[in-house]
Amino acid sequence: MQNFIYKNPTEILFGRGMIAEVAGRVSADAPVLFLYGGGSIKRNGVYDQVKAALKKHRVVEFGGVEANPLYETCLAAVDVVKRERVGFILAVGGGSVLDAGKFIAAAACFSGADPWDILRSGGKAVQAALPVGTVLTLSATGSEANGNSVISRRATQEKLPFTSNHSFPVFSVLDPETTFTLPPKQVRNGVVDAIAHVMEQYMTFPADAPLQDRMAESVLQTLVEVGPVTLAEPKNYEARAAFMWSATLALNTLLGCGVPQDWATHMIGHELTAFYGLDHAETLAVVMPGVWQHKLAQKKAKLEQYGRRVWNVASAKAAIEKTEAFFNSIGMPTRLQAYNISAEEAVAKISARFAERKATFGEHGDIDSAAAAAILRLRA
Ligand code: NZQ
Ligand code: ZN
Repeated sequence: MQNFIYKNPTEILFGRGMIAEVAGRVSADAPVLFLYGGGSIKRNGVYDQVKAALKKHRVVEFGGVEANPLYETCLAAVDVVKRERVGFILAVGGGSVLDAGKFIAAAACFSGADPWDILRSGGKAVQAALPVGTVLTLSATGSEANGNSVISRRATQEKLPFTSNHSFPVFSVLDPETTFTLPPKQVRNGVVDAIAHVMEQYMTFPADAPLQDRMAESVLQTLVEVGPVTLAEPKNYEARAAFMWSATLALNTLLGCGVPQDWATHMIGHELTAFYGLDHAETLAVVMPGVWQHKLAQKKAKLEQYGRRVWNVASAKAAIEKTEAFFNSIGMPTRLQAYNISAEEAVAKISARFAERKATFGEHGDIDSAAAAAILRLRA
């Protein structure tokens, strides 16, 4: 096992009615920015619950954060934060709203000339950030319990992640009932994204980390079990709760302690979203089987272990097939063709961009532009 430092400062408030807990955790000394998305929270009662919790606070609302949140929108929110002297950001919604909240919090405290440097530096440029609390309404990203954020820039068709220790939420409310109104497509997306998060920290090579392996496999088994139940029974609280907690543990940084990590699937996937507008999870379901196939020799031992322990199959190839079949069974396509995307066009665009950035990913640091091209060709 490699050395590691583990610190997760986010307080989790889990269960029915927990939005009320926000009241006592946010200082009333300065205005609070109440950040949300396109309006789902106004239709499912979450907006009213948040307003009730903040009835003694001065609240400044900022709605309209898009899925795959835009840099341009975030900068408009930064202006509001500065003008109103906001002291706390409460982000209420899915991963996109939470990520936007984290970026706004960092950009509001940024002293450099160009806030895009926060993303260009992968977060190294973040020196401070306003405190952010969250109320999560969509289980998928793990953004509620990590220091990551992913921001898209409309003008240049870029989508870049950053991570900072200053960007962990101070608290996150996880009330499974707030997820009852999710469309099936978002539930499907959440299952796939959470599985992919476990895989980025697990599907590498044996690293003498038996506990991390078993924890990862437990999260995978739980997602495979409760994902389909959640889709079939949208009001099943227990299934929603198990799913919600699994998605949080998939990327609250615990599984990744002391083990090699991959993240090539995510980085190639971000480009598919940037160029073609696919949902985040849709890109992962296309790319991940390709990364595994391309790296079959290096990942063979872990693929076999995963196949044996999660699917009860013997070979690496069968483990890949089982995963794809599971994605398809919950309505998630796994080929570029399903989106009418030409693999050759995607190869040209994405490999040019990785070459220009001199980007390399993967647990061996060898997924470069040529490897990304080979992976995408496998996913036509
Ligand atoms: O905008 P509203 O009206 O709220 O509607 C949203 C949105 O249209 C809707 N929704 C959310 N909660 C709902 C609901 N609809 C009904 N009932 C509810 N309870 O769902 C739609 C999608 O929301 P979004 O926040 O975009 O989805 P998700 O949580 O999947 O977030 C995706 C973003 O997170 C990034 C992705 O790249 C993408 O930009 N990621 C963030 C990560 C992180 N911070 O650690 C890691 C991930 O790998 C990922 O990259
Ligand atoms: Zn993801």
